[in-house]
Amino acid sequence: MKILVIGGGGREHALVWKIAQSPLVTKLYCAPGNPGTAALAENLPIAVDQLDKLLAFAYENKIDLTVVGPEQPLSLGITDLFEAHGLKVFGPSQKAAFIEGSKAFSKDLMQKYNVPTAAYGVFTDQAEAEEFINRTGAPIVVKADGLAAGKGVIIARTCEEAIVAVRDMLSGNAFGSAGSRVVIEEFLTGEEASFLVITDGKNVIPLASAQDHKAVFDGDLGPNTGGMGAYSPAPVVTSAIHEKAMQQVILPTVAGMAAEGRAYRGVLYAGLMVKDGEVKTLEFNARFGDPECQPLLMRMKSDIVPVLLAVANGDLADTKIEWHDKAAVCVVMASEGYPGDYRKGDVIQGLEQVAELDDVYVFHAGTAAKADECVTSGGRVLGVTALGTTVKEAIDNAYRGVARITWPGAQFRSDIGRKALDRD
Ligand code: AMP
Ligand code: GLY
Repeated sequence: MKILVIGGGGREHALVWKIAQSPLVTKLYCAPGNPGTAALAENLPIAVDQLDKLLAFAYENKIDLTVVGPEQPLSLGITDLFEAHGLKVFGPSQKAAFIEGSKAFSKDLMQKYNVPTAAYGVFTDQAEAEEFINRTGAPIVVKADGLAAGKGVIIARTCEEAIVAVRDMLSGNAFGSAGSRVVIEEFLTGEEASFLVITDGKNVIPLASAQDHKAVFDGDLGPNTGGMGAYSPAPVVTSAIHEKAMQQVILPTVAGMAAEGRAYRGVLYAGLMVKDGEVKTLEFNARFGDPECQPLLMRMKSDIVPVLLAVANGDLADTKIEWHDKAAVCVVMASEGYPGDYRKGDVIQGLEQVAELDDVYVFHAGTAAKADECVTSGGRVLGVTALGTTVKEAIDNAYRGVARITWPGAQFRSDIGRKALDRD
């Protein structure tokens, strides 16, 4: 089979790494990929939003399956476009990806199908938003309705801060058109978990549990990022929580999307807040999480290709996924300044030394090849991912890898996975 992976981050390197292990694959491409995927696949110089070029390539080269990593091409309708030309895709249609593309839509869906979530309002009018904020009180959460690369969420400590955030969004100064409508919601406390499933629109297979670390600094301090590290399994997802997540969140959402004429096929990612044995849904994403994908795929024992193909064919009924008993931890190494403006072009040292370590794999994200060297080219640069018999051992293995890698200004959290240990 010829397979094309779309995207160029750590998640896509993990997908390419896993797909490349399948005996079913004869040729693997990645668009645009990164220096990490280049070692396992042929990178194509096509950006994720160049749908016509991606289609032309897939059509001319008779690609058997296209696997879409990021949200942007999904929201632009890549799945619909490819399927209209008889090509198979793993990833939801444009109408189904709207569950991530519009937070207002996803909140209204949750309300309609009784999926537990924070109380909220949707606003395009400043005065009405202010009235809601003053009535609810702070802390309070303000979210841009549209896609904002994970940065469109403001946790406001005071009503004044929330009012300013709404004004910035509605005026179009922050997040452009993505902020022309805002969701304002009750602030939830608890422990977050990433709950991912694979579905064909009817059948649902839960993936192993995972937890992300969104804040840039240790102790969950500082601004939110795309994710500074992740681990799997996440002990906060006990079997009782797993059951609640399936029964109260995932199954009604999958059924609700089908009932709305938006049948969902692909990975459905629910961001959950867990507190006192109850779950509430923070958000849905229409794709694998990044960096959750990295530890999840390291733990996946089954060949992933038949699973992806079954979803693309719309029939997951007879598919099973097996997992390694080991735990996995991914520590993200980022450029100085991230998630704000960051440095680029620094030479990364130590990648060969990490390659010597057992059970450690370095997924590339924001890297670029320059002459014979690998240089930084993005905010999140690498995801150093390791297996271990326990979460503790996986953490130690991952940080053993991190310790061998350097570049000027490299930053990473030193407490990835600690919450899992605190529960032991
Ligand atoms: P979202 O993109 O909606 O998941 O929001 C990004 C992050 O903001 C989440 O992972 C949480 O850490 C935080 N967040 C979002 N909504 C809430 C909420 N209602 N209460 C507390 N934190 C939230
Ligand atoms: N790690 C969070 C996300 O992918 O949205």
